[in-house]
Amino acid sequence: MGKNKVYIYKSFERFWHWTQALLIFFLAFTGFEIHGSISFFGYLNAVRYHNIAAYAFIVLIIFAIFWHLSTGEWKQYLPTLEHIRSQIDYYLFGIFRNAPHPTKKTVLSKLNPLQKLVYLGLKILVIPIMVISGLLYMFYRYPQKGGGIAGLNIGSIEPIALIHTFGAFLLITFVIAHLYLITTGTTITSNLRAMITGYEELEETEGDENKSSENSDEVKSPEKKQNIEVETVLVEKEII
Ligand code: HEM
Repeated sequence: MGKNKVYIYKSFERFWHWTQALLIFFLAFTGFEIHGSISFFGYLNAVRYHNIAAYAFIVLIIFAIFWHLSTGEWKQYLPTLEHIRSQIDYYLFGIFRNAPHPTKKTVLSKLNPLQKLVYLGLKILVIPIMVISGLLYMFYRYPQKGGGIAGLNIGSIEPIALIHTFGAFLLITFVIAHLYLITTGTTITSNLRAMITGYEELEETEGDENKSSENSDEVKSPEKKQNIEVETVLVEKEII
């Protein structure tokens, strides 16, 4: 089967992905200055910038939740055990022998089974842990400061700091693995380019799900392209 250039990552998705990447990088950087591991902005500035970036991150998360729910894209993350073994085998062995990818990427199923599991874990576990422990950290009732939330009478800030720092290490581990895995697409840069431009060369599928959205005449005008996108979403949501 041939290959088609397919519009796989929508503009909001790309905006959300890159803004999130920037914010996580900045939060990790300022966070580890607060932690005492590096010195760059100065402690007080690091705290101030970390707080501002944290609020921006929360706003972005709210928009992203809305986008995932309203487009039906949340279904991409439904975990499946199918092909999980072959995906692990591929990363451990096949990849070094030029074996083909065990799962096919399509517009309706962009993530392989391992990605589904890991991304879902990030969304429902690691990021909520970071946000909740971060907010607890922010509103902790420091005895010397007063204020804070009196109802949250947590005896010591230590467990909050430990959980928040542990989450930061988990996120950084994810980012390192993610950076490596980005390079394991069809070519070294194909995944990266797809997340920048929105387009990726994908193998044609039997159901023609990966039909070219670049060469076909129907999709030439932006309005028609938008109509097709809307139709796809409506079909996905089983409205039509
Ligand atoms: C909405 C999300 C977040 C909120 C509300 C938040 C909030 C906070 C606050 C209030 C502090 C303590 C500042 C102080 O000492 O006054 C802190 C520390 C820290 N944050 Fe965040 N943060 C968030 C996300 C992140 C992320 C994504 C990372 C890393 C990837 C991170 C890494 C750290 C680290 C390493 C520390 C130092 C912890 C310590 O040494 O006890 N934070 N954060």
